[in-house]
Amino acid sequence: MRALVFHGPGSIAVEERPDPAPGPGEVLLEIIATGICGSDVHGFTGDNGRRHPNQVMGHETVARVRGGDLAAGMSVGDVVTVNPVIGCEHCPTCAAGEEQACPKRRVIGVDPAISSAFADLMVVPTRNVVPLPAGVPEEHGALVEPLAVGFHAARRGRCSSADAVLVLGGGPIGQACVLAAQRLGAERIVVSEPDRQRAALVAALGARLVTPSTVGTEVEQFLGAEPTLVLDAVGSSATLTAALTVAARAARVVLVGMNEPTVTLPAYEVSTSERELIGAFCYNREDFASTAAWIAEAGTLLDPLINSRVGWSGAPGAFRDLAAGTAHASKILVLPAKS
Ligand SMILES: NC(=O)c1ccc[n+]([C@@H]2O[C@H](COP(=O)([O-])OP(=O)(O)OC[C@H]3O[C@@H](n4cnc5c(N)ncnc54)[C@H](O)[C@@H]3O)[C@@H](O)[C@H]2O)c1
Ligand SMILES: [Zn+2]
Ligand SMILES: [Zn+2]
Repeated sequence: MRALVFHGPGSIAVEERPDPAPGPGEVLLEIIATGICGSDVHGFTGDNGRRHPNQVMGHETVARVRGGDLAAGMSVGDVVTVNPVIGCEHCPTCAAGEEQACPKRRVIGVDPAISSAFADLMVVPTRNVVPLPAGVPEEHGALVEPLAVGFHAARRGRCSSADAVLVLGGGPIGQACVLAAQRLGAERIVVSEPDRQRAALVAALGARLVTPSTVGTEVEQFLGAEPTLVLDAVGSSATLTAALTVAARAARVVLVGMNEPTVTLPAYEVSTSERELIGAFCYNREDFASTAAWIAEAGTLLDPLINSRVGWSGAPGAFRDLAAGTAHASKILVLPAKS
């Protein structure tokens, strides 16, 4: 098979690799499309140190079942997505379906020992294969993973139709947060995003836009109230400070963005106004599965999230463009079948 192999900071190439063979409890998948995630780009540049030489990355994928140890109801030819989080299956968090919190979790596309989805073929545990609703555009299956991150964040924030929602950051995760808040019934949603192309995309999803410099003055005006829920899809001292300064008393602030490992925040805005600061990481099993089912309802609303498509010949260049910041793309898909 062909695979996109990471060789070290700034170096990635399409190469021949042996076809993987499924063992017991595993399924062989033929990849249809895999999205390039910001974390893949930061791995490519060496910024996050979470990708290793000779690794095949890729965790946002849609694929066709080719064979192996199929689950009941699964057939060869089914179009499926993959929940990348592999739990140990034995600890209390795995038993509760919260594999993202399993101390022994491994993540497809992150763990260098797992050859992942930037390839023609991939083998995954049968239990991580998630069916897609019949009739959805196949490419939308590659969006399930980032959409599930946003949905988990909004659910962690107990989002409801009563909320006035502020989302900080309009990248793929901020976009997923907007769609998740809508899915949970919220109608008043404002997004802060400085990039014009991304702002236009978020506006197309139905949110009002502000720039980071006007968060303080415009958010309340657009929402008709102070935000009761803030989803920080950037995760920096600047965004957490903005979140805690504009949010209503007793508001929930969800930290899903991970831009800075250490932040400074206005502590008294948490204590004296009794605001809640809530963490969100990946998704649990149920949030992933329900998001896979939900894409049928979302329909064409998801089309603008896919910005462009490349085949093997264009894939290394797409990584370089994203790393150089010359692409404001929302989501670039790598399609093995595209020339
Ligand atoms: N918690 C998790 O499980 C999880 C999962 C996936 C991604 N992440 C993290 O979420 C963050 C967002 O991911 P992404 O793929 O959307 O990243 P991205 O870099 O593509 O998008 C971030 C967006 O935030 C905007 N931005 C930057 N500073 C801002 C500010 N001060 N105010 C408002 N907007 C600002 C940028 O213009 C950009 O469009 C990243 O830190 C990523 O590592 C977390
Ligand atoms: Zn990702
Ligand atoms: Zn476990």
